[in-house]
Amino acid sequence: MSSVPPSTKSAKAAKPVAIAQILFSQGFGTRRHCAALVDHGLVSIGGEVVEDPQQAFPTEGLVFEVEGKTWPFHEKALILLHKPAGYECSRKPSHHPSVFSLLPEPLRNRDIQPVGRLDEDTTGLLLLTDDGPLQHKLTSPKYHVPKLYQASCKAPLDEAQLRRLVEGVLLEERNPRLAEEPVNAVSARALPDGRLEMALTEGRYHQAKRMVAAVGNRVLTLHRQRIGALDLPADLPVGGWLWMDDAQRALAMSEPGDGA
Ligand code: URA
Repeated sequence: MSSVPPSTKSAKAAKPVAIAQILFSQGFGTRRHCAALVDHGLVSIGGEVVEDPQQAFPTEGLVFEVEGKTWPFHEKALILLHKPAGYECSRKPSHHPSVFSLLPEPLRNRDIQPVGRLDEDTTGLLLLTDDGPLQHKLTSPKYHVPKLYQASCKAPLDEAQLRRLVEGVLLEERNPRLAEEPVNAVSARALPDGRLEMALTEGRYHQAKRMVAAVGNRVLTLHRQRIGALDLPADLPVGGWLWMDDAQRALAMSEPGDGA
């Protein structure tokens, strides 16, 4: 699979936009609230307070401050979160806090969704975006974007178990068509510390755990380390998040070793 070029900036994005509209698009509340933030002198650009809610600015590369906090403009948001255990990937969690509670309010207000959910007890790399086509490319099995998982298991996996994971196993599924289709890892190996590392391109429910169970073992802890060629940054603390830029977006959509 070839790497995908960075998203092209539309002519529309380069056109100046009223600051109140910019704030609205970035999740700072209702149009009225955004205009009020400006009226109250709480918004500045380059150290200068913006006086008029209708004053227009080119959005490309724009950085602004709201109540002293710096925000980069992003027409579409792509966020990388280091997911801790004990958080659900849902806006309406049932038993544990939501991963959205780890993000600041303007981001929560945007229509971002996790790119493929992780289980409550799974840790590691979670992307969230409001970019529909990107969401589709990263989650659809059709695009073969590998997700690399590391798992500690009840017992170290032997060669036969590793081979079976790559050759494919059948999983119990409600959908009879899926139940007949073997599901396989694109790679599976034992790490020097005895953990399993395997790459999956599909995102079936509890897929890694069920595949390991299907070869007669059990996942105890599960961590996602990479999506495509995009690694979880080693210096990002658990629970921390980052904006992704166009280069990182391209990495997420490319295979490790593509050179993207
Ligand atoms: N596979 C699982 O079993 N759980 C996850 O969270 C992700 C992949």
